[in-house]
Amino acid sequence: MKLALVQTNPVFGELRANVEHALSLMERVAADLYVLPELFNTGYSFASSEELSALAEPSAGQTSRAMSRFARGHSCYAVYGFAERAERIYNAAALVGPKGLIGVYRKVHLFDREVLLFAKGNRGFPVFRTPLGNIGVMICFDWIYPESARSLTLKGAQLIAHPSNLVLPYCPDAMVTRCLENRVFAATADRVGAEDRAGASLRFIGRSQLVSPRGEALVRLGDVEEGCAVAEISLSDADVKTINPHNDLLLQRRPNQYTS
Ligand code: ACM
Repeated sequence: MKLALVQTNPVFGELRANVEHALSLMERVAADLYVLPELFNTGYSFASSEELSALAEPSAGQTSRAMSRFARGHSCYAVYGFAERAERIYNAAALVGPKGLIGVYRKVHLFDREVLLFAKGNRGFPVFRTPLGNIGVMICFDWIYPESARSLTLKGAQLIAHPSNLVLPYCPDAMVTRCLENRVFAATADRVGAEDRAGASLRFIGRSQLVSPRGEALVRLGDVEEGCAVAEISLSDADVKTINPHNDLLLQRRPNQYTS
């Protein structure tokens, strides 16, 4: 399958234009799965709950309709981050395919001021069985808890789709370790640019990357420019969990020796 990382620079609050622009980047490269950044349609730094509420939308809202239209037209799949309006408001990511919305993940580990704005994800880490393979989803700061990627691996994920808005510099290197310790692919789709809002100045680091189960960076984007980059991968490479004749990554876990 061909996987495309879509690295964008959204304009805060310009939902419709941000979606149109991302779709125009996606039009430039053919892929089976596109992974987009966290909150790619709204921007990141909400000044208040009211501002967030005004930009949040249901999982089957206008962004889902636009992305599903693209997926139907191009017979492909896409994972993207958005602010989900449900009984509360979640920092969420959706997977859509040719038949529309497949499922939603709600960010479990909220970062910094997100704690003041969003409800904590309450549905664990989902793995979606698709014709392409098993796609797990986590969002940005979830990377700092190894349990996130491990939970997805134990549930059968071959690929972790990882929409992000990274501000700390550590994640790209850490995701290499996440892939090695789980023998999975990970597609971190980040944004670039800066936001100076709500008393905070944030610069997003870009450096979107696709990492293989062997820890190889198959594709890496820069830290300034938007763009869309593609790599061809075989998700079944993630099914091999043996390291040598005596070590199997998952079978030799010792949960009764761990503290939960
Ligand atoms: C982050 O979780 N957006 C840093």
